[in-house]
Amino acid sequence: MITADLANIRIEKNNFSSIKSVDFNALDFGKYHSDHMFFADYNNGKWHDMRIVPYQNISLSPATAALHYGQTVFEGFKAHKAKNSSDIILFRPDKHWERMNKSMARICMPPIPKDIFMDGVIEMAKIDRIWAPSQEGCSLYFRPFAFAMDAFIRVKPSENYYFIVFCSPVGAYFAGKLNVKIETEYVRSAVGGIGFAKSGGNYAASLLPAKKAAVDGYQQIMWTDAKEHKYIEETGASNVMFLIDNVLVTPELSSSILDGVTRDSIITLAKDMNYKVEERKVSVDEIILSLKNNSMQEAFGTGTAAVISPISIINYLGVDYTVPSPKSDGFSAKVSKILNDIKYGLVEDPYHWTIRV
Ligand code: COI
Repeated sequence: MITADLANIRIEKNNFSSIKSVDFNALDFGKYHSDHMFFADYNNGKWHDMRIVPYQNISLSPATAALHYGQTVFEGFKAHKAKNSSDIILFRPDKHWERMNKSMARICMPPIPKDIFMDGVIEMAKIDRIWAPSQEGCSLYFRPFAFAMDAFIRVKPSENYYFIVFCSPVGAYFAGKLNVKIETEYVRSAVGGIGFAKSGGNYAASLLPAKKAAVDGYQQIMWTDAKEHKYIEETGASNVMFLIDNVLVTPELSSSILDGVTRDSIITLAKDMNYKVEERKVSVDEIILSLKNNSMQEAFGTGTAAVISPISIINYLGVDYTVPSPKSDGFSAKVSKILNDIKYGLVEDPYHWTIRV
């Protein structure tokens, strides 16, 4: 039944909520989805028919281009339940829209207008607000994505696309220790490739090396550059940062590194906390030396899913190096608190990163 038409979005409500089947005290990452999904179609050169409908399967031709040639991009951002009101607070959805369009441009997909993206996620937040968990460390994860819909198997940019947003109540992405292995054989992305784009193929490339590393007890790969395996790039599901001699060091952005929104937020906060920040090439040798001579104070992954995940062990060429445990008054603890206070609406948001719904 169609019940409303908000911001040019047709809304068909789900009369059969599945929320009662979800154990909010045992949320995995990405297991559940909320009751609705936002949908827009692209044909004849424009996005149209914006609608929110009950979460459901979609029907695809076996020849659907995205399934064959990977013309597909995704985003991920979170909303938190405010600590002192009934609002839910979306964290930097506009920055994710910006990045999504950069990813789309790289693989010849048509940009999504800002109002379609923002209206879609805000209406989704309104209609499925009861899905935002109040449990500590949990959030409502938004997964916007778009893919090529042509049923045509010549290799060429598609003329038809879907843009969809669904939501998932999530717990921590990494639970327990985060041990990472510096990869020296496989490559995620080369300079000039699509590593900076949030496109499915980048993640497919990571699966086999990650599976092999997991057999040896490492939860993530730390990728190195494709040419020499000499410089650190990022981990499988996050950017990476190091605190060395009180300087925050992180690999500089390039065409093979994802421009992380959490990365950007932490760099902004670190500068405002008067930390020296260096975005530059970070060599594996420098990281190993800093672990050997005890100048490495912290190492952590940063991402929407990962948030700030302290790394416990870095493995390089078969040797495990232990990273010092983060201190309660150390950089990552301090920056996590500031970031969380903003995300949960406990302090003013001087950066205008949040949207309350
Ligand atoms: C995110 O941090 O939102 C991501 O997209 C990482 C993903 C691989 C779970």
